[in-house]
Amino acid sequence: TKIEELRQRDALIDELELELDTKDDLIRQLFLSRELIQRALLENDFMKHLEMSQILTIMDCMHPTMLVQGCCVIEEGDDGSLVYVLEEGRVEVTKDGKKLCTIEPGKVFGELAILYNCTRTATVTALTDIKLWAIDRQGFQTIMMRTGLIRHSQYMEFLRSVPSFQSLTEDVLSKVADVLEATHYRDGDYIIRQGATGDTFFIISEGQVKVTQQTSANEEPVFLYTLSKGDWFGEQALKGEDVRTASVTAVGDVTCLVVDRESFKQLIGGLENVSSRVNDSDEVKGKIEAEAAFFSMVS
Ligand code: CMP
Repeated sequence: TKIEELRQRDALIDELELELDTKDDLIRQLFLSRELIQRALLENDFMKHLEMSQILTIMDCMHPTMLVQGCCVIEEGDDGSLVYVLEEGRVEVTKDGKKLCTIEPGKVFGELAILYNCTRTATVTALTDIKLWAIDRQGFQTIMMRTGLIRHSQYMEFLRSVPSFQSLTEDVLSKVADVLEATHYRDGDYIIRQGATGDTFFIISEGQVKVTQQTSANEEPVFLYTLSKGDWFGEQALKGEDVRTASVTAVGDVTCLVVDRESFKQLIGGLENVSSRVNDSDEVKGKIEAEAAFFSMVS
């Protein structure tokens, strides 16, 4: 009976070891799957610009599915609800009965209907037994939109703080936040060159710029004033003729939020205090004149 007991114990140990090996294998497999999903997402044209945190969240939200050879994974014209990454096997993409391509492991498919909110653009059929990872529409869209939403709310917060925009409604500010584009400059970079044509309006969100003007070709440019966070420039060229009336250069690192002519006209251009700097308060005007006088003296 002692021997019997030892045998049973050995058997139990074998069983536990096997279980541990299986668990190890599963963890290794899961690790490989995650690597494959990550590579697939980074290779996909629509997803390669996502931030790593978004890629990791998509991976966390994906669940595995197995389908047998011949299964129709996606039917052209259906309302799509899942985005897939193919891990094992091959699928065929057809449109109107014509073959478009074969998809191999490590590729994303089914993203178009979800990204563009349209019906499935093609049919996808399993050429072999396949293993897929899938994420549902809602999860996918929420993750895709996340950075956009955060950025939008940051822009809104900043735009609300710009004194010249105080009279703009939340709705208009939100539209401005939708269309603007952040551009970065380094010390000394020209943001605007006098005499060049231009169709953009700039709001400084970080840093300082220097505005200079040349009155004639053979004269040195004269320093007019510096502008900083919350100030704006470039509006002159958006009214009437589109030639820049002064040069603007970055002093240190600068970030500007850039609005195009059409959006400026529709959303911002009507503002009294933006349509003309001549309406600057006496205090500001005095400061600009004093600065200009001082710098013309020292230059
Ligand atoms: P979706 O339209 O959601 O569903 C069908 C999927 O097939 C589509 O997303 C793409 O992932 C894929 N697909 C459609 N057209 C092509 C193509 N020409 N080449 C490769 N894949 C395609």
